[in-house]
Amino acid sequence: MEVTKFKEKAKTYHSKMVDMRRHLHRHPELSYQEYETTEYIIEQLEELDIAVDRPLETGCVGIIEGGKSSQKVVALRADIDALPISEEGDHKRDFLSKNAGIAHCCGHDAHTANLLGAAHILSDLRDEIEGTVLLVFQPGEEKLPGGGRILCETGYLQQKGVDVIYGLHSYPGLEPGQIAVKEGPLMARPDEFKVEIVGKGGHAASPHEAVDPIVMASQVVSQLQTIVSRDVNPTEPAVVTVGKISGGSAHNIIPEKVELLGTVRTFAQETADMIKTRIEAIVKGVTEASGGEYTFDFDYGYPAVTNTDWATNNLVQVAQNILGEEQVHLLDDPIMAGEDFAFYQQEFPGAFFFLGSGSKKTQSTYSWHHPKYNIDEECFLTGAALMASVVFEPLPKS
Ligand code: NI
Repeated sequence: MEVTKFKEKAKTYHSKMVDMRRHLHRHPELSYQEYETTEYIIEQLEELDIAVDRPLETGCVGIIEGGKSSQKVVALRADIDALPISEEGDHKRDFLSKNAGIAHCCGHDAHTANLLGAAHILSDLRDEIEGTVLLVFQPGEEKLPGGGRILCETGYLQQKGVDVIYGLHSYPGLEPGQIAVKEGPLMARPDEFKVEIVGKGGHAASPHEAVDPIVMASQVVSQLQTIVSRDVNPTEPAVVTVGKISGGSAHNIIPEKVELLGTVRTFAQETADMIKTRIEAIVKGVTEASGGEYTFDFDYGYPAVTNTDWATNNLVQVAQNILGEEQVHLLDDPIMAGEDFAFYQQEFPGAFFFLGSGSKKTQSTYSWHHPKYNIDEECFLTGAALMASVVFEPLPKS
């Protein structure tokens, strides 16, 4: 199919996508509580005569049966949840969050509007579609265990016989009209840990009568730095970060305990397992040597987003046709952020890509989860056209 058709159609529906995105942006909802968001999406799909399934309590799946009979099933996924964060966007904007302490600071409002825009394009082209397109509006991307995981566990998509799934994330590091993608590992496994270091509280002037958890915690944080530098194979990307450390109440009191929260980023399960073991060994060693105690919790997060070669290739093909070759950035290295799109890729071939959405003029170059996060709405021209056109790419011959 001619690529100009997708570009033109994305242009036709651009103002509609902007309106939808702004509506969603004004009314953000937290993970697994996306009730109004889901109702809004269903209204939009029903206006297009697209059938809707609700395999989970929130979120939904739109089903477009193509005019050409075939077993082919292509799934397109958007995440729909917002973050527990107070937005600090430009107050001149008329579409700031109306829900206190909740905001779309990761662009999932844009992903949703973009997929609804693709729904418009695909609805127009229904007669030319082979097989079925599933529009997966997924809840709870931001919160473990991940809406993608829960949906996969229902077996819904497996029953539908999905052949391939595509997804995207807005990306402030590139401008609208550009995308970035790579074959193989694209995004890391984000695992989480929590350590409680328990000592014995007392007067700050009598440390010999106390067991100081602050000193133990300091040693633990320093020691943890040696895991990546000494235990992980230097050719393998890995991160151990302590993001929160809390304990104590005053300058002259040795507290009873200190809590550390951190994240581990890796690509291979074995590396995550090894790091988990090393963290606990360090915590155990330090607390034992100092006469303290500890608790240790490690939560496995999402697996690594790992793109299937042929699906990535389909995406690159359509992107090069629609955007031009120089606008399609083939990344050399993965990024260490995580995404629950990975769960779909454990079940089906799939490709995930980054949609350029950053520009200075719209103040949309802030990083994901920044309170000023915003997207340049021009990105819908690219995003909707790509999502719609990749549906028409062939599956590999089996
Ligand atoms: Ni996100």
